[in-house]
Amino acid sequence: MSADPVSRDEPPIIRPLATDAEAWACAELMASSDPWRRLGRTLEQSYAIVRDPAREVSVALEPSASSDPRVAGFIVVIMQGVFVGYIQSVAVRADCRGRGLGSALIALAEQRILREVPNVFICASSFNPAARRLYERLGYKMVGELTDYIVRGHSESLLRKTKGPLSEFGSEGVF
Ligand SMILES: CC(C)(COP(=O)(O)OP(=O)(O)OC[C@H]1O[C@@H](n2cnc3c(N)ncnc32)[C@H](O)[C@@H]1OP(=O)(O)O)[C@@H](O)C(=O)NCCC(=O)NCCS
Repeated sequence: MSADPVSRDEPPIIRPLATDAEAWACAELMASSDPWRRLGRTLEQSYAIVRDPAREVSVALEPSASSDPRVAGFIVVIMQGVFVGYIQSVAVRADCRGRGLGSALIALAEQRILREVPNVFICASSFNPAARRLYERLGYKMVGELTDYIVRGHSESLLRKTKGPLSEFGSEGVF
């Protein structure tokens, strides 16, 4: 995908991933960005992740001169498994960063997750301190360090933002 300058007049629209072109754009963004590049994530693996029906993917689309809107960022949420309410990945195109889009994607994912469960989980790679700082600024607290979790030699910091115990949220029966 080309990287034309972004219009700063119209804010991107955030909505569920809809087309295969959007899926490939997300995959390209993922495979070409750290932390995934450093973790060895390929384009095909990235595409499989955003196309996995078990994952909920939202895209931020910006207007473009052509008829096709362009993907400025995306977020992947998992609502199944042990840690229900896991933000697996969030990415914003390099030329669109620093304008609040990453925070907006995370806020939207939180709204979706907190409708069903009181916890939002997210990980930051040990070599990605800027992401961890962003999450902490958004109210996430460190749970613990998952050593050698994705690749040997690097750890993942697991963080959580919570509304309170499961029992007070009325969702304890789910677990
Ligand atoms: C993390 C990320 C989604 C934030 O998107 P964004 O639109 O720039 O986010 P916001 O504008 O809401 O917030 C900006 C903050 O993100 C921080 N940030 C985190 N990772 C960053 C990165 N790789 N590059 C630039 N800024 C980053 C900046 O330090 C900034 O904090 P500051 O205001 O204290 O300087 C984006 O930087 C990105 O895609 N990074 C690469 C992928 C990644 O690291 N994803 C997180 C792990 S899954």
